[in-house]
Amino acid sequence: MLRIGLDIGGTFIKGGMLDHELHILAEKTVAFPGAKRLDILPGVLEDLAVNLCRQAGKSLEVVQSIGVGVPGSLDPASERVLNAHNLGMTDYPLLALLQDQFPLQQVRLINDANAAALAEHRLGALRGCRTGLMITLGTGVGGGLILGGELFNGGMGQGVELGHMRLVHQGEDCTCGNRGCVEAYCSSAYFLRTGMEPLERVELARSGEPESMVIVDRYLDYLSDALASMIVLLDPEIIALGGGISKAGEFLFGPLRQLVDQKTFFRISPRIEGALLGNKAGFIGAALLGRD
Ligand code: BGC
Repeated sequence: MLRIGLDIGGTFIKGGMLDHELHILAEKTVAFPGAKRLDILPGVLEDLAVNLCRQAGKSLEVVQSIGVGVPGSLDPASERVLNAHNLGMTDYPLLALLQDQFPLQQVRLINDANAAALAEHRLGALRGCRTGLMITLGTGVGGGLILGGELFNGGMGQGVELGHMRLVHQGEDCTCGNRGCVEAYCSSAYFLRTGMEPLERVELARSGEPESMVIVDRYLDYLSDALASMIVLLDPEIIALGGGISKAGEFLFGPLRQLVDQKTFFRISPRIEGALLGNKAGFIGAALLGRD
């Protein structure tokens, strides 16, 4: 069985083709056309799928499924994107558009962080866990929850939106229209408010620059507050951190573990690890949606 997974982000769309043993046969990244050019998005996704087929030496007709990860909430039937603020999508009928574009394939949509959680659970840092959290720290903050060994998509199918838990009373504006969300303090937005990209700021802190050290410490203070709340709700075995900011690695994770230990109510803290599949997790997880 051949499956394609596409992971739509605010800057790039990443795609990959996987075979039945989940080997990656082809992968490619293209630019997201932009919130104002959503009309051309289905065509861009089709071109990407065709390109993946060409790379792998297969024709599109023999691809059975196409899974698409989206950075936002889907309706419970996973047909419409209710809102993906970082893509400028509101109530967007993505499934119907893609079914027109790919009439021969089974097409399914999934939240991007859920896709990453599925992929990490099957092949990466969450492998073997019964209760685990995937948190993506990037332009947004996404959350995917493994409960009882399976992906949990909310009691009413609306997802698990850890980035929109309220962290600071009357805090900074969030892209979702609310204030004080985890995303407003733990995504790239926090670093951009200090005038720098996250990894640039982290590098300065690593080199001992005092202002950057304070900024990074404050970031970890917010992130550990958020994790401590999630931990008392779920008591997970493991938390995997992915997304661009997680590339800072142990420089962040070491102090983060200590802060979480200090802040959690429980005696035993979960393991906190970097996700293992990097920026492939989204398209791998989306591809996993295809039936075997
Ligand atoms: C969205 C989530 C998404 C996350 C990461 C958030 O702003 O609400 O659905 O998973 O960004 O892309």
